[in-house]
Amino acid sequence: MTHSHKRAAVILAAGKSTRMKSSRSKVLHHIGGRSLLGWVADLARQAGVDKIVCVVGEQNADVRTEAEKLGLEIAVQEPQLGTADAVLAAKSALSEFDGHVIVLCADAPLIKKQTVLEAFEKLEKGADVVAVGFVPKNPGAYGRLIVEDKKLTKIVEAKEATPEELAVDLCNSGMLAAACEHLFGALSKVTNDNTKGEFYLTDVVGITNEMARSCVVGVASADEVLGVNSRADLALAEQAFQEGMRAQMLENGVTLRDPTSVYFSWDTQIEADADIGANVVFGVGVTVESGSVIHPFCHMEGAHIGPNTQIGPFARLRPGANMGEGSKAGNFVEVKKSNIGKGSKINHLSYIGDAEIAASVNIGAGTITCNYDGYNKHKTIIGEGAFIGTHSSLIAPVTIGAGAYLGTGGVITKDVPKDALALGRAQQVNKEGWAKRYRAAQEKRQKDKS
Ligand code: UD1
Ligand code: MG
Repeated sequence: MTHSHKRAAVILAAGKSTRMKSSRSKVLHHIGGRSLLGWVADLARQAGVDKIVCVVGEQNADVRTEAEKLGLEIAVQEPQLGTADAVLAAKSALSEFDGHVIVLCADAPLIKKQTVLEAFEKLEKGADVVAVGFVPKNPGAYGRLIVEDKKLTKIVEAKEATPEELAVDLCNSGMLAAACEHLFGALSKVTNDNTKGEFYLTDVVGITNEMARSCVVGVASADEVLGVNSRADLALAEQAFQEGMRAQMLENGVTLRDPTSVYFSWDTQIEADADIGANVVFGVGVTVESGSVIHPFCHMEGAHIGPNTQIGPFARLRPGANMGEGSKAGNFVEVKKSNIGKGSKINHLSYIGDAEIAASVNIGAGTITCNYDGYNKHKTIIGEGAFIGTHSSLIAPVTIGAGAYLGTGGVITKDVPKDALALGRAQQVNKEGWAKRYRAAQEKRQKDKS
């Protein structure tokens, strides 16, 4: 939908996070592998706003670093005197801005783009302030939206609420939208005359009514609005995210054998007709192509899994693992920063790191690429169709030519030419009758002692 006003978002991230009981700010804690602040920054971008200002505290350098990494404009609130004071900290960043502003709390990670767009649309239609409300299962400590004669008259914080107000189930999501000029005008009138001695953003609603201007309620669903203030909230938000992803994957045609035991990240991409077993964890940055089977108990991050591959059970794919079409990484196999060519197999008990493995290679059980000398990482290159015998140690840097054959138990320190046989183990020595003579000598010694 087209709109005539410019749009900006102010993200509040300067709070003290006391209830989280963490040395880190709550907005740096993760849901689905992405910081709460990262989620909210993405929401603002998805909503297509023209400008994003993130309010951070001076004390919390890590939040500022994360906000800068996310490409957000920074405003500093010091000290932290409440949510109204936090928005006021963004005033100078918005001094040239003439348009509509939405305030987003960095501790509400699961809000949908549509909810933000609807709030802006209500402003386009003439509302002066839009407070986005929702009806949670447990209203608890959320602020309550007080509607009288179909008009939003005020928002009361749970701590300030009368028993009648506490009984209201329409709660404040924390999102509030207004024209920039009106917002800062109303904010200048907010006082800290309340139980917490803080300047509440929510007071903007009452003040707007006193100015004889209109406040309306925007609506969000309970599963998207979940303010993360404590570890319990964080766990609930993670659960809500995972449930959403599982439903989405099933909807997209991905088989999940035991959906509740599969964990996704915000950016997990899986094509239709992939088949995911129980107890599988997708860390950040995993893509899976169609026809692949991920057997139970696999852990993956930063990995690409090509079509028709077989992974696990009990496989670990680390960043840069790139499994080619029809390849296999079986039980107790770890792959890191390596390309595994089409149809190549690493079926059992191996570590493959910093390797280039061409097509149709067979890696025997217990093979290790010895890629690290304590200071640097080195490459192992294996040509097409090579056969790596079980229990090979490939001391990188090393190149195994195409079609080469490595005998079992080799410690391979030198390059192996194409189609050669390489044996890198001590020669076997058989001593005829030795064991029998040894036993007889030991038995005699025992008898002599007794
Ligand atoms: C706030 C709302 C409450 C709403 C709830 C939804 C107010 C007064 N209350 O309460 O009505 O139901 O969100 O989750 O707005 N922050 C700052 N500077 C400050 C204080 C807070 O930047 O001085 C930031 C926090 O980092 C956080 C956001 O503002 O991201 C909200 O603050 P928080 O303390 O979590 O408010 P709630 O008590 O959850
Ligand atoms: Mg909160």
